[in-house]
Amino acid sequence: MKIAVVGTGYVGLVTGVVFADLGNEALCVDIDAAKVDAINKGQSPIYEPGLDDLLQRNLEEGRLRATTDLAHAVRESEVVFICVGTPPTDTGEPDLKYVDAVAAEIGRALNGYKIVVNKSTVPVGTGDRVRRIIEQHRTEPHEFDVVSNPEFLREGSAIHDTLNPDRIVIGADNPRAAMKIVELYAPLERPMLITNLATAEIIKYASNTFLALKISYINAIADLCERTGADVVQVAKAMGYDQRIGHAFLQAGLGFGGSCFPKDVQAFAHTVQRYQLDPTLFQTILDINHARAGQFVAQIRNRLGELQGKTVGLLGLAFKPNTDDIREARALEIIRLLLDAGATVKAYDPVAMPRVQSLFPQVHYCRNAYEVAENADALALITEWNEFRQLNFERIRQTMRQPNLFDGRNLYDPQRMRKLGFYYYGVGRAADPSEFKTVL
Ligand code: UGA
Repeated sequence: MKIAVVGTGYVGLVTGVVFADLGNEALCVDIDAAKVDAINKGQSPIYEPGLDDLLQRNLEEGRLRATTDLAHAVRESEVVFICVGTPPTDTGEPDLKYVDAVAAEIGRALNGYKIVVNKSTVPVGTGDRVRRIIEQHRTEPHEFDVVSNPEFLREGSAIHDTLNPDRIVIGADNPRAAMKIVELYAPLERPMLITNLATAEIIKYASNTFLALKISYINAIADLCERTGADVVQVAKAMGYDQRIGHAFLQAGLGFGGSCFPKDVQAFAHTVQRYQLDPTLFQTILDINHARAGQFVAQIRNRLGELQGKTVGLLGLAFKPNTDDIREARALEIIRLLLDAGATVKAYDPVAMPRVQSLFPQVHYCRNAYEVAENADALALITEWNEFRQLNFERIRQTMRQPNLFDGRNLYDPQRMRKLGFYYYGVGRAADPSEFKTVL
């Protein structure tokens, strides 16, 4: 099948590359000529494990190309995926200007029946809006259908997630359009759900918001564990064995970041308000998450006292491992709080340092975790990259000014770290359970 994919961010580029790999002809469209050039040279503009190889193979075999010419891509294709960004406005509502602009151009370029598939995360009702915009801009009465096909891939495992989705949701008001998209996804042999447009649009937000809810929920439990001598890691593990709950997304820590959860929960809160419903539940998810960075820095401050003249080393900056994405990364807020309190901040991240450097030039960027630890009064694990799992902590303790370890992702074994001579703080893991008395 000939497809056009508009927008070459995480969702668009991965969608284009994976559909090309399944044997389709994919034209990837972006307004950014530099990105288009890079893609045509086989260089992915984003860091995503496995993407470069797949991109190069499909370019070489002639199934994929990138272009800035949206109208040409539409005219050449049967199916057009809209994968452009929906960044939040000042009020937190998604800005649909890029979706609108693409819809208008699709309308102008229509030269026959097309299926326009929206993959961007958009509020319920956007499919209808896209349909209206295309109708307003088409110059000839060519038919088209609009489909909502939300994307559930995670950054860092985008290729794997796209090839092995838990489910594929196809929201369409016309069964003919739905069946065409079913055909496109058939080689993946994964469960598919066909719904109407509004249902598919809500499924995306309801899913992301529920995952964010799980994270804020376990973080609220972590706070109680810290005050009572309980261990949130064990609480979450025991909860997770209940099949109705499950283990996933119950890791307490610094909370969620990234380009999706913070923005999507906020957007969903706006949507329910727009329909005169109570957004408190959704707002609370965000409030709990927002407080995490401040609480973590307060722990460091409690231990070190005045931060003026102290050095804090940060391990990891990206919003999660295996990505160079720092959007809404917890590290940014933590750096800001530490610098405001007068601390000297050192940091190392395997891939995200250049991005943070442009925001915080005053941070000392290091070549590895050991350099971060040198002469530091505290070492704080922010992003749980694999390479931080098996560090030589004997060596680290010896080079630190004070052996204080703050584990923002509960990566390390508290007992082992204490045995090695560290003061160890893990989120929701009491320092010494014998020190606590439950209040009854
Ligand atoms: C998320 C969803 O997981 C995807 O299904 C969805 O497609 C995507 O948003 C999107 O809407 O585009 P992503 O933002 O890439 O994917 O990252 P996640 O792996 O979900 O992690 C989000 C944040 O939650 C990270 O900051 C992570 O550190 C944090 N997290 C995750 C926790 O604090 N605890 C957990 O137990 C799990």
